Amino acid sequence: MKIDPWSSTTYQDYTRLRDEFGIQEFSEDLWKDLPHPHRLLRRGVVFGHRGFELIHDAIINKKPWAILTGLMPSGKMHLGHKMVIDEVIYYQSLGADIFIAVADIEAFATRGYTLEETEELALNEYISNYIALGLKPEKCRIYFQSKHQDVKDMAYILGKKINWSQMVATYGFTESTNMTHIFSPLVQTGDILHVQLKKFGGVRPTLVPVGVDQDPHIRLSRDISQAHRLYNVTVTKDNKIGVFVKVDKDIEKLLDNAEEILNKLHFTELKRITDYKAIYIKKAEEEDIPRIDEHLAKSETRFGGYGFFQPSATFHRFITGLTGEKMSSSKPESAIFLSDTPEDARKKIMHAKTGGAVTLEEQKKHGGNPSDCMVYELFLYHLIENDDELAEIYNSCKSGKQMCGNCKKYASELMEKNLISIAEKRKTADKKIKDYLI
Ligand code: TRP
Ligand code: SF4
Repeated sequence: MKIDPWSSTTYQDYTRLRDEFGIQEFSEDLWKDLPHPHRLLRRGVVFGHRGFELIHDAIINKKPWAILTGLMPSGKMHLGHKMVIDEVIYYQSLGADIFIAVADIEAFATRGYTLEETEELALNEYISNYIALGLKPEKCRIYFQSKHQDVKDMAYILGKKINWSQMVATYGFTESTNMTHIFSPLVQTGDILHVQLKKFGGVRPTLVPVGVDQDPHIRLSRDISQAHRLYNVTVTKDNKIGVFVKVDKDIEKLLDNAEEILNKLHFTELKRITDYKAIYIKKAEEEDIPRIDEHLAKSETRFGGYGFFQPSATFHRFITGLTGEKMSSSKPESAIFLSDTPEDARKKIMHAKTGGAVTLEEQKKHGGNPSDCMVYELFLYHLIENDDELAEIYNSCKSGKQMCGNCKKYASELMEKNLISIAEKRKTADKKIKDYLI
């Protein structure tokens, strides 16, 4: 199995996907004690993560942290695209610095759009809806990949630590893949890591909330961030904790610096072996590694390093299209667009595939199947905030009390209200866009 970020695959079995790729489960202890946890986190729509512990720690202990995510401007914005921005707005309310990349280089390379077309789409479809949905301009920067010199510079420089065979193994590139496409994952790595440059707030935990199709890019960025570090802290073969210098320049100075940091952290029994470029720490435990590494990372910029924290990521499931296939801009009947009129949306919902039985009688007797129902998914992902109300719908569907006709009507009403409010706010969004762009 391979995850291809540019294919239009839908995934059925998220647990298997998680296990196969070593994605961690997004378990309750990671979100339960966050302030007013978002519905997508509470309900398992966000089902996996890499390194979210760092973010959890930053939120709970009120340390600085950042969000970086990206949008691929291709086609109109629909409910599937709304999820990421719902998450971003939630994290903004918790105090994160927000960065949003418009992936115009990627859309140009992989989807055949011109840069002008992507600009038009990004401004009128995506960014205006983001504003209408409640994204605030404070501590929030939206930029275009093609116009961001630091991001492009990072892409070139960070690429030094990755070779062609790794790219082929990760993405399945072939001899006929165009070079801009081949380069686009490095641009995305530039997106993800540039926020840790001093100019953009410095070394700090960074969360990338994305759909699971983006995992190859996340793995690449995490690997690259580590490859550029000057230090490595690990458990050695004989079960000691060691700090190792990974470069061949300034070894003495780097060991001095590490020793000083370790002393400050009250690790005093150290054994330094310069030939191994190593310091072994007595009386340290594996649990101490993140804390030690954090301090070492932050010191690296003084020695010409980047000191990146490994970027964290969360992965959400894809919302199913109303037709039962993928929700996709190229199939308007499968998607509800944020610019749909209430009537359009109602029609689509009334035609949606449900988990209802074949006849009313059957359904009264045996109940419906909300777990395989696109209307229920609308409630779960977007329309119902209150968990008890959602549970009530689930139960009355299961028990045969609720019939699909009524249920669809209710979903349409909620959706109409939503769309009307978004349309209203979108009217004034145009004028505000400049407050968000760099
Ligand atoms: N590749 C993403 C997509 O297809 C868009 C993207 C570009 C992105 N840069 C990013 C996502 C950085 C997350 C982080 O939708
Ligand atoms: Fe879906 Fe509602 Fe029908 Fe149940 S009653 S199957 S939730 S539309």
